[in-house]
Amino acid sequence: MTRLSIRDVEIAKSYLDAAAQAALIEALRPVLKAAPLFTPETPSGRKMSVRMTSAGRFGWVSDRKGYRYAPHHPGGADWPPIPREVLEIWRDVTGLERDPDCCLINYYGEGARMGLHQDKDEADFSFPVVSVSLGDDGLFRIGNPTRGGRTETVWLNSGDVVVMGGPARLTYHGVDRIRFKSSRLLPRGGRLNLTLRVAT
Ligand code: SIN
Ligand code: MN
Repeated sequence: MTRLSIRDVEIAKSYLDAAAQAALIEALRPVLKAAPLFTPETPSGRKMSVRMTSAGRFGWVSDRKGYRYAPHHPGGADWPPIPREVLEIWRDVTGLERDPDCCLINYYGEGARMGLHQDKDEADFSFPVVSVSLGDDGLFRIGNPTRGGRTETVWLNSGDVVVMGGPARLTYHGVDRIRFKSSRLLPRGGRLNLTLRVAT
């Protein structure tokens, strides 16, 4: 593991070894079965290129009504619990007693991306945001705590863990593109990103 810090965003490169990545994929299988990926719309009605779902007490959703935390999957079922393997990562990297109440799962297929944004739908920004990258490489763009200004990029690879807390909690970030099929972790290719957050 190597630690990088870019504009106060902490990146633990290769935090998960190959066996831990494979175990995480196994732990996510029942979650994806209980809460299938869906294609969200932005509030303005455009389809996002990522597919998403969640685990935890709350899931993050987006549709014409806006961005928010919702207690149920759009299909109506409760979100499945956050797998133990995922909670262990959060506990280890944050050292917090409080567990996250949302694990957002984003799937990037070929051509998917995520525009620059802040994570700001949570009630308390003193809790960090932790994200775990699995599968294909993703070009992560890091901006500033306010819109605009210079940005920089870093490739996130399978097994990397990003922590955005303290001065970086509200930093603009996004994913420009992925290198489709650069990893063999997911048999059909693509990138999974898990974002852990305290929502309430
Ligand atoms: C996000 O900010 O929601 C996703 C970040 C990532 O995919 O690495
Ligand atoms: Mn985000």
